[in-house]
Amino acid sequence: MDWTTKRKEAAEYIRSKFDKKLEIGLILGSGLGEYCERIEEPVKIKYEEIPHFSVSTVKGHAGELVLGKIDGKYVFAMNGRIHYYEGYSMQELVFPVWVMKELGIEKMIITNAAGGLNPTFKPGDLMIINDHLNFMWDNPLIGPNDESLGPRFPAMTNAHPQELIEVAENAAEEIDLHIMKGVYLAITGPVYESTAMGKFQRLIGADAVGMSTVPELIAATHAGVKNLAISCITDVVEDTPGKSLTHEEVVAVANRVKPIFKKLMDQIIASL
Ligand code: HPA
Repeated sequence: MDWTTKRKEAAEYIRSKFDKKLEIGLILGSGLGEYCERIEEPVKIKYEEIPHFSVSTVKGHAGELVLGKIDGKYVFAMNGRIHYYEGYSMQELVFPVWVMKELGIEKMIITNAAGGLNPTFKPGDLMIINDHLNFMWDNPLIGPNDESLGPRFPAMTNAHPQELIEVAENAAEEIDLHIMKGVYLAITGPVYESTAMGKFQRLIGADAVGMSTVPELIAATHAGVKNLAISCITDVVEDTPGKSLTHEEVVAVANRVKPIFKKLMDQIIASL
């Protein structure tokens, strides 16, 4: 079965559970999924129930779709995502984005946990992604192009629409949050940076590094879904060997950031 048929089947299943006009897609990264609790009149669907959806194996990723209302707008919120390092294909990874498109969603917010490379960043900072580097060396659009989604050769210079960046900047100002802005570099993972790799990433102009988001934003841009991507800086990539980062530290910082993350997301969604 091709991806077009699969996405239509998944969308049809979701519509059978929730028939309201969905407006905004949310992909919630490591430790940030709790934001779903804020959704009003929620309808929850486990990923395994949805035709052709894949289920995350990572701790801290619930694997549940939550449909409901925030500030009067109907949202499609993914509590947990799958990752390339789990062994899924790029197409499996971005499948939910294609389903969002099929459901008529035109705007999407992608969030993640990331390591800080910019020397001014501290754990707990939030960063608006204003450009990206794809160091996954794979792409969800490899293979036959679905012309009903978008062109064969989509530009990536418009992958971070300025109007949504401004919405996020204004939202941060509104809640007195000093928000960062920068380039996100995606690696496959599951390993964190070696010291030399961290230095290299910093040298070539990346401000943050993580193991997700770029495939989803490529698929969204191709399909004409505008995305806003935000990183939660959970650690600072060290310049000297010796300190070893753990997944638990990453999740702990994401947990600490939850209240301000919630305020920011609320403010952004209210302005969309
Ligand atoms: N590197 C890569 N991915 C990450 C990191 C990191 O330091 N922190 C959270 N995700």
